Amino acid sequence: MNVLIVHSHPEPDSLNAGLKNIAIDTLQAQGHHVEVSDLYAEGFDPVEGPQHYPHRQDPVYFSALTEQRSASDHDRLPADVKREISRLERADLLIFQFPLWWHAQPAMLKGWFDRVFVYGGLYTGRQRYDQGHFRGRRAICSVTTGAPQTAFGPGGRGGDIERLMWPIHYSLYYMGYDVLSPFLSHGIQGGGLSYQAEASFRAHLERLKLDWSRRLTQLEEEKPLRFNGWSDWHQDGSAKFPVSPLHSGAVIS
Ligand SMILES: Cc1cc2nc3c(=O)[nH]c(=O)nc-3n(C[C@H](O)[C@H](O)[C@H](O)COP(=O)(O)O)c2cc1C
Repeated sequence: MNVLIVHSHPEPDSLNAGLKNIAIDTLQAQGHHVEVSDLYAEGFDPVEGPQHYPHRQDPVYFSALTEQRSASDHDRLPADVKREISRLERADLLIFQFPLWWHAQPAMLKGWFDRVFVYGGLYTGRQRYDQGHFRGRRAICSVTTGAPQTAFGPGGRGGDIERLMWPIHYSLYYMGYDVLSPFLSHGIQGGGLSYQAEASFRAHLERLKLDWSRRLTQLEEEKPLRFNGWSDWHQDGSAKFPVSPLHSGAVIS
């Protein structure tokens, strides 16, 4: 299997980098081929805008959708976007490694979505959701959080993790991926926010690394999260409820 890890953390000695390295080692040891998009190390520019389109379809009014479609049609996509798309096209499994920043993915990774999932090239009005370009391929997020696990239940202080993960999961499903339950590493203290004593924190980190390594060996057998598809929607996009089930891709485990 070909695997792409999209890694979004600025510090090579962070836990996030450690989890990325564990994924590389574990998957390679199983005989898989692993590529890494290390967004900070490679200096990826996450800001979509006119600066990326020297040959504009519409030189007066900048529309990202218009320019993405035109650049894709005329083989004029920016080199870094082309590189990321080739990596995606090779990958049967896509892994995102990132810390939870402001209840979501870091801006670096959000911008990667904005620029790399190109309108016209990788999705169109019809080629989305269960008809998406990447259908048949799998994706999983490995996410670290500062707050402890107990804070992420419904109504909890950290926010309901199912809701926090929904936008990124739904975006991956939009592109056609089968999205697996995230691997969540909670309670990663830093900056003086301490939830447990140093020794038990170290043991917690070692347990998480082991859990991630074990989980990686089972991903091919896991059932993806369930979402509604085209057959669940009316022409205008509204749901055919209560006839069809409401599958929102909530976190299962
Ligand atoms: C800008 C910023 C925003 C953060 N927002 C959250 C948050 O919303 N929820 C949370 O639990 N932790 C939050 N944290 C803590 C990080 O998730 C935590 O430091 C990180 O997961 C630890 O992993 P690392 O050691 O690999 O950086 C935030 C940290 C930063 C720097």
